[in-house]
Amino acid sequence: MTEGIAQRHQGYSPQENGAIYTNGFISNSQSATGHNNGHVTQNDQAAPRVERLYKVGGQSMEKRAIPFNRPTEVGNELTYMAQSLQSGRISGDGPFTKQCHQLLEATLGVHKALLTTSCTHALEMAALLLKLQPGDEVIVPAFTFVSTINAFVLRGARPVFSDIRPDTLNLDERKLEALITPRTKAIVPVHYGGVGCEMDEIGAIAEKYNIPVVEDNAHGLYARYKGRSLGTFGVMATQSFHETKNFTCGEGGALLINAEEYCETAEIIREKGTNRSRFFRGQVDKYTWVDVGSSYLPSDMLAAYLYAQLEARQQIQFKRQTIWESYAAWLRPWAEQHGVQLPFVPTHCDQAYHLFYLLMPSLAVRTAFINYLKTQGIQSVFHYLPLHTSQMGQEFGGRPGDCPVTEATSDRLVRLPFYTDMTMADLEQVVDAVVAFQPAVEGAPRAQNQAHG
Ligand SMILES: Cc1ncc(COP(=O)(O)O)c(C=O)c1O
Repeated sequence: MTEGIAQRHQGYSPQENGAIYTNGFISNSQSATGHNNGHVTQNDQAAPRVERLYKVGGQSMEKRAIPFNRPTEVGNELTYMAQSLQSGRISGDGPFTKQCHQLLEATLGVHKALLTTSCTHALEMAALLLKLQPGDEVIVPAFTFVSTINAFVLRGARPVFSDIRPDTLNLDERKLEALITPRTKAIVPVHYGGVGCEMDEIGAIAEKYNIPVVEDNAHGLYARYKGRSLGTFGVMATQSFHETKNFTCGEGGALLINAEEYCETAEIIREKGTNRSRFFRGQVDKYTWVDVGSSYLPSDMLAAYLYAQLEARQQIQFKRQTIWESYAAWLRPWAEQHGVQLPFVPTHCDQAYHLFYLLMPSLAVRTAFINYLKTQGIQSVFHYLPLHTSQMGQEFGGRPGDCPVTEATSDRLVRLPFYTDMTMADLEQVVDAVVAFQPAVEGAPRAQNQAHG
């Protein structure tokens, strides 16, 4: 047993083999350790040592390959999909889609929720709703997934890249005002890792210049900023239900609308430019082409899959919180010793527990670390190449040095395996491997794998 493992388990009472968390959310028959409440607490300081988690009955278990991600699964997905199939109504906006809409509206407090085929498509809808024109400017963080800006570029808009805060890695609100010009038509903050941007400051600047805010909340469903749900601050917000997200249906998304004036047009844009939604509600006797639009609504079978997960939101978030807090508590001593930065969550933010990253001291160390974890059967990935220095970003005038925090972050960030059903043995295996790494190693070849946002 390593010292690290012993320290990590101080304060937990060893239990029977079986469930790690007494509430049964995370269970692992290989585990010989139990948590009192599934949370890592501050006073986990003086407790008996426990067995290595992948040792059961004195026998070492084989280390398993640990993937970076596994899609969340709660159990009712296939039942609901079968119900959808049996209903004979599997196209868009069927009963499960409506249930998802109602659930999102009620639990978040948004005026309208519309499921889409992806977050990318929800962003495209936002760009259409804001009537973006060639020459308009849209401010986005340089550290984000390409869709955050591509959706607006599709309409001819020009990206204006903002640097990020070195602590939360969110758009730096202190740099925002200097980027505003008479052509600025939208500000698109991204709540990185589901930790809220400084929405008070961003909202005040947006209001001063009368510029709409669209929150890219791909990572942040059910997170809060100062007690208020992310996704309720902008005129609109977008969600992702891609397989890497906390809640998934494989590929999917949602447009959340807070400003009522966009609701009717949003329905039209999503339904191929027709007023079919009004027709289905009996508000018109036939539907016809009334505006530009596309097909942004997912099959009701996917909505059925998603609904099972949204129903289980507390269970999913609790599991993810436990994993996140375990990583943070167990890796902190090693991180402090080796100059590795852990994620920062301001006290006024309730985060979404979407991802766990490390900021390594340098690119060379990060590369060596990813390669080292690979040799341990553990998949880790970096995240977001800076948009302003990408081929397309440079065509829009982006240059190295424009966003120094983004550039340094992109070189140094590595995401550890993080998925809802990660067992305690998986977690222990990753933590053991990480703390055995000595970040002084320099000069390894570049790694290849970047995560889907
Ligand atoms: C910040 C951000 N915005 C948008 C997206 C696009 O999401 P989707 O894959 O659902 O289109 C991603 C990728 O997951 C993302 O990380």
